[in-house]
Amino acid sequence: MAAVAAFRGPGCCAHPEATGIREEKETLRGTIEIDSARMSDAAAISAILLTNRADRDLFQESASGISRHVTDFIVARNEAGDIVGCAGVHRGPSALAQLYSVAVAPPWQGVGVGGKLVSAATRAAILSGVERLWGATVKPDYFTRYGFRPISAWELPSSVLLRQLRRTLRQPPGRIVLALTGKYTFMDRDLGRLPKMDH
Ligand SMILES: CC(C)(COP(=O)(O)OP(=O)(O)OC[C@H]1O[C@@H](n2cnc3c(N)ncnc32)[C@H](O)[C@@H]1OP(=O)(O)O)[C@@H](O)C(=O)NCCC(=O)NCCS
Repeated sequence: MAAVAAFRGPGCCAHPEATGIREEKETLRGTIEIDSARMSDAAAISAILLTNRADRDLFQESASGISRHVTDFIVARNEAGDIVGCAGVHRGPSALAQLYSVAVAPPWQGVGVGGKLVSAATRAAILSGVERLWGATVKPDYFTRYGFRPISAWELPSSVLLRQLRRTLRQPPGRIVLALTGKYTFMDRDLGRLPKMDH
């Protein structure tokens, strides 16, 4: 099925203040809809992270934690309306944002959902005026596929590193040490500036 896109928020799709993104994509397991998360999705997003808890480097977040910044999230829904994947983009200082909590429900992994989420999250970031996207991952090869390159953590502003440390310390007991000692690669992608609109 051809992708359909509807951008919510003020102005047209290329407006820097546009905040939403919605599209339908075909996968080997059927059609998924990629859309901005709603407040009612917080528990399902938390559940997606939890179903991947065997991946000990993936940060866990409670539903209440997610609900505090649910507007960060893009979700993938299957034809039954169930959330099968998520990705968060948290806007930091100036035009810098973090890509985080990229996760796909195990039965849906390997059919392209993660890639579609990363691409949609990147587009949403560009539309909201983000010029540089960063992330910390133990799967750098995966993110290299989407244009990310390794950087030194010290290239990031201290406020951003502090937030990451706070996220680390909020991990459930038993995962904090793993989160502190995990072999995370910091990566970024320069999104450039959107072409200036004439109208
Ligand atoms: C990592 C994750 C998000 C990938 O999502 P996915 O939907 O399974 O991935 P996709 O189907 O979009 O994969 C696209 C491509 O990336 C490749 N790929 C998948 N995982 C990869 C990895 N760890 N390293 C390198 N490439 C990888 C796939 O083989 C596929 O290649 P192809 O297009 O040539 O066939 C998913 O496996 C997941 O949720 N893992 C647990 C949580 C996690 O680790 N998240 C990342 C946190 S930093």
